[in-house]
This record gives sequence, structure tokens and C-alpha cells, in this order.
Amino acid sequence: MIEIRPAEISDAIPLAELGRRTFLETFSKDNRAEEMDLYLSRTFGTDKQLEEVQDPNRRIAIAWTGTTAVGFYHLFLGPPDPAVKGTKPIELLRLYVDSRWHGKGVGAALMEKSLEAGRREGFATMWLGVWERNFRAQAFYRKYSFAVVGAHVFTLGTDKHGTIIASRDSMRRTRGKPMVAPLEPYFTRRRTRRTIPPVTKAWARSASAGRRRPSPTRCSTTPGGASACCLSHPANCSEHDIR
Ligand SMILES: CC(C)(COP(=O)(O)OP(=O)(O)OC[C@H]1O[C@@H](n2cnc3c(N)ncnc32)[C@H](O)[C@@H]1OP(=O)(O)O)[C@@H](O)C(=O)NCCC(=O)NCCS
Repeated sequence: MIEIRPAEISDAIPLAELGRRTFLETFSKDNRAEEMDLYLSRTFGTDKQLEEVQDPNRRIAIAWTGTTAVGFYHLFLGPPDPAVKGTKPIELLRLYVDSRWHGKGVGAALMEKSLEAGRREGFATMWLGVWERNFRAQAFYRKYSFAVVGAHVFTLGTDKHGTIIASRDSMRRTRGKPMVAPLEPYFTRRRTRRTIPPVTKAWARSASAGRRRPSPTRCSTTPGGASACCLSHPANCSEHDIR
């Protein structure tokens, strides 16, 4: 039996442990150990989660089975990515489930609760960033009608990664609608074409059918404005960090 409760001060230790472990499980196979260590040390730790739990701009809830934390969501009331155009936006910053509990409905329960929490506070749009190669999470978000609206560059340690920005304009419990095509041909580069699964392939196909932008000589350094450009034309990307 899964119970989802808002995180409290006393939950900082299990929250930090679960966040660290699920992040490692999800991303360590695709990233260098030193980059992971750097990111983990900055993001997860009892003090860090203690701060987050008490932050009035964050809503964190944990899924428990008995006394074991098996997943959590983390909503953030910060400024949205410039690609998000919906009204009253709230960010789903993290939604992680312990790998031993994948495919058992924990993610769905957390997603429903996070939508409910956002709706209760009057938010009308939920948005998120998902790594371009995190296909499992993309398939999951697709089930919940998130649509691709943009992309940005996420720095893990010192490595840069492409992140898809997706949002849904309604906090209703709708599921099953397909994601719409991306606005830019993010995934048409040769490097990613070989590995992308059907969901992302469909986006790539729709995108490549649309208008292609000519390659600029240099990407703009304006945060947000530069991100899509850097993903499409990495060679032209000047040094900048979006998040
Ligand atoms: C993405 C994640 C949260 C999904 O949680 P989960 O508990 O495994 O998902 P659920 O069992 O609740 O599944 C919910 C629905 O999504 C679907 N789904 C889940 N994973 C899927 C996948 N890889 N492909 C297709 N559909 C998938 C399920 O089939 C289910 O739909 P159904 O009820 O119609 O069968 C979980 O896999 C996870 O924590 N991954 C690692 C962390 C991560 O990547 N987080 C997102 C970072 S942006």
C-alpha cells in the first residue's frame, strides 16, 4: 500500500538518500563518475533537502510503503523557462521512483498528486525539463499529455546536456493524448538518430517535416534564446549555462 504525504523536516534524510540513489540509478550509466559526483554533492544531502523542505517556493511529497520512501515529487514555484507560454505555471522539478518500484503505479500516483497539489493552489500549467536521452521518463510524461515546447542546455558537473522542455496547459487528470511535435528539429542530428525510440522518432519526423532554420555562425548568449540554437548547432554554441 502506497501513501503519499508532504515532506516534513524529519524526512530530509530519507529524501536525500532516495534522491541521490534514484539519480545515480537513472543517469550514472550515461555520465562520467566525476561529473555525477560533482552534481550529486551539490544537489543531494541532508542539509540541502532540509532547506528545500522548508522553502516556501517548493512543494515536495514522498511516496511511502510502510516506513520506506519509494518515490517523491518536487514542485518548484520559480520563473518558468522562456519556452513555457501557459498561464500560472509551476515546474515539476523532480519526479523519481526507486527502480525496484518502477512499473507498479508509484509514478502515476505521484503525478496525479502533483497535479492535484498544483491545481489546489491555482496553477494552470505544469512544465518540466527531461533529458533528451531519458526515454523512459519521456514515455511516461507522454502518457500525461505533456507537449514539447522547447529545449535548453543543462550542465551536469561540467558536461552539457540537451534537455527537452515540455508542458501541459491543464491541471486536469487527462491522460493518453499524444504529445505534439517540437517547435524545432532538436533530434535530427546524426548522433541521436541511431538511438532514439519511437516516441522521440515521431517528434523528430514531425519536426523535420517543418521549416529548418539556417545554421547561424554563432548562437546568441541570451539565456533561453541560446538554448535551442546550441542544441541544433553545438559547434556554434558559446559558453553559457542556462540552469
Ligand atoms: C519515469 C518514472 C517516474 C515512472 O514511474 P513508474 O512508477 O515506473 O510509472 P508507473 O508504473 O506509475 O506507470 C505509469 C504509466 O506510465 C507508463 N510508463 C511508465 N514507464 C514507461 C515506459 N518506459 N514506456 C512506456 N510507458 C511507460 C506505464 O505503462 C503506466 O501507464 P498505464 O497505467 O497506462 O500502464 C520512473 O520510471 C522513474 O522514476 N524513473 C527514473 C527517474 C526519472 O527519470 N525521473 C524523471 C526525470 S525528468
